[in-house]
Amino acid sequence: MVINHIEPDHAEAFARIVEVIKPEKIFLTKSAKTGLISHFHREDYPFIEVKTGDEIKIGNRTIKFIETPMIHWPDSMMNYIVKGKILVSQDAFGAHYATSRRFDDEVDTCELIQEAAKYYANIVYPYSPQVNKLLQTVKQMGLQIEMICPDHGVIWRKEPEKIISLYERWSSYTCNLRVLIIL
Ligand SMILES: [Fe+2]
Ligand SMILES: [Fe+2]
Repeated sequence: MVINHIEPDHAEAFARIVEVIKPEKIFLTKSAKTGLISHFHREDYPFIEVKTGDEIKIGNRTIKFIETPMIHWPDSMMNYIVKGKILVSQDAFGAHYATSRRFDDEVDTCELIQEAAKYYANIVYPYSPQVNKLLQTVKQMGLQIEMICPDHGVIWRKEPEKIISLYERWSSYTCNLRVLIIL
């Protein structure tokens, strides 16, 4: 079991799920472990702390861990699944976008981008320096990304680079040039 974020909208059912599936190991950041123990009072769970650069192998899949503190809580982290080049991005690259569809190419692109921008402005914007640092880390790690699976909204599979480039722009406070014509 991997816990990427302990904010209650993500992890409220944590203890119940542990009781049902009885995971052999629970991978999480040091800060997530501290937070979960204080929320659920279960020091006895099989917690294993991980940090950026650590990885585990599950069958033919390798999962790499990337800490992303303050995106959007101190405990946050992401996972990169090597097979499939999938980034499980937790709060980043998400949107408060309710749809019965699962993928970006199944919904209206303009509406999706608008919702992603609104989400960035309301949730992620204060942590733009951390987003900038994360994007640099992803580049330094040389991760090729073919799919982004955020915890909110739809999965980016058609053009994951589109939302990455928008995050580069939004996190660097770059505005589009605009012209105002007064008649
Ligand atoms: Fe969050
Ligand atoms: Fe969230």
